[in-house]
Amino acid sequence: SLFVLEICFSIIVLLCNPVSLKSDASLFPSDFLFGTSSSSYQFEGAFLSDGKGLNNWDVFTHKPGNIMDGSNGDIAVDHYHRYLEDLDLMNHIGVNSYRFSISWARILPKGRFGSVNKAGINFYNKLINALLLKGIQPFVSLTHYDIPQELENRYEAWLSPQVQEDFKYYADICFKYFGDRVKYWTTFNEPNVVAIRGYRSGIYPPSRCSSSFGNCSSGDSEKEPFIAAHNMILSHAAAVDIYRTKYQKQQGGSIGIVMNAIWYEPISNSLKDKQAAERTQAFYMNWFLDPIIMGKYPAEMQEILASNLPVFSNHDQEKLKSGLDFIGVNHYTSFYIRDCMFSVCEQGPGSSKTEGFALRTANKDGVLIGESTAVDWLYVYPQGMDKIITYIKERYNNIPMFITENGFGDNDKRDGLIEESLNDVNRVEYVSVYLDALAAALRKGADVRGYFLWSLLDNFEWTSGFTIRFGLHHVDYTTLKRTPRGSAIWYKQFISNHTTTH
Ligand code: NOJ
Repeated sequence: SLFVLEICFSIIVLLCNPVSLKSDASLFPSDFLFGTSSSSYQFEGAFLSDGKGLNNWDVFTHKPGNIMDGSNGDIAVDHYHRYLEDLDLMNHIGVNSYRFSISWARILPKGRFGSVNKAGINFYNKLINALLLKGIQPFVSLTHYDIPQELENRYEAWLSPQVQEDFKYYADICFKYFGDRVKYWTTFNEPNVVAIRGYRSGIYPPSRCSSSFGNCSSGDSEKEPFIAAHNMILSHAAAVDIYRTKYQKQQGGSIGIVMNAIWYEPISNSLKDKQAAERTQAFYMNWFLDPIIMGKYPAEMQEILASNLPVFSNHDQEKLKSGLDFIGVNHYTSFYIRDCMFSVCEQGPGSSKTEGFALRTANKDGVLIGESTAVDWLYVYPQGMDKIITYIKERYNNIPMFITENGFGDNDKRDGLIEESLNDVNRVEYVSVYLDALAAALRKGADVRGYFLWSLLDNFEWTSGFTIRFGLHHVDYTTLKRTPRGSAIWYKQFISNHTTTH
């Protein structure tokens, strides 16, 4: 029946999207990685199984009011028990790689203050081996938002320099146990989002912010995001250093970091707005990439934040020299930026000192930057993909890049019509125009080496719970049954075109 379903969808996709099917797979090099992306907390479930310790998201989601639909990742999509079935789905699509993250608390339930959980090591060994058996390259993040709660309890995790020791210790264990087979490592997923949402707006754990910035009882939105980020940057450096000195030569892999990367388009051609867009990027993405690649925080941050921006000691600067091998780019959306430093502008996201005095808006004279979607932050502006890639290429000397995430979220109701959900022409359209824009950046010489679609399955979308669906496969959250959407069939076709044209 899966086969019949597929034929029906292929026909629907063909009829509804003649334009999208033009996406030309042959424009991507033959060794280009095409995969899907996931993360431990959003996929695994099994939150107390086999010795796993509690993590910060386990604790956060269990507090009433934190998640829109009151849900949590206790079960998520039960990937922990269903990974073989999920691998079959990947294999069917024909991907040559899979991006996932390791649950830190599954490996080290108590951080470095306890022992290694062998059952956790076992799980990832089984996953990695099964992937490789199918010819799928593992592309692994050491942390994707979730960290052992123990680190919060002991010393407030990212707010303390002690966390660098913990991250280094954990990274060492992962390289030691898995590095013989994992050739692509990333230290952090979207540390900029963790710093901003965990410590400025407080909407993610550890829910810290000043009351004027959000709804938190403790924290300092003007200082703590920068302290947390500083410790993440130095933790990244410590992990890369261990990899370089103990493992890389012998294991032959590479290591990078994944940033959330939004394209910021100046709202006008004025110099003020152009500089504001540049400042926004400094306070968002370059905040991490500049120190890691160039050894110092962006000049704009230093000027505006002054003493609220931590300083790298000589010793830190030595550590930062370990750098990275590639940048992982999570790109979904774009915004207009209006200057708030040299001209008066209304209050809104971005307009504060902590974000570089640059207002973020999707709307210019009543016209949106791109098509809006069911997800409030997601605007379809494919040129943003070309622009952000070209921007990174120019700023960081054409360093290798991977699109570690790109995808389309929809909010069909849990009990909505499944047929409607499966016929996801909007997702096909989105992915296809973004891939075209990526191909345009490649043509201009950007060194992008892979694309990971978020996501294989519908899954736990953080504070939105299960209300937003990003999957190539629909998941019925009662039975956990996975059903391919039109987009899964489209991606399969696209990848097979890629294979046959090379
Ligand atoms: C980025 C995050 O890394 C991922 O966890 C999230 O689900 C997607 N964006 C979609 O919002």
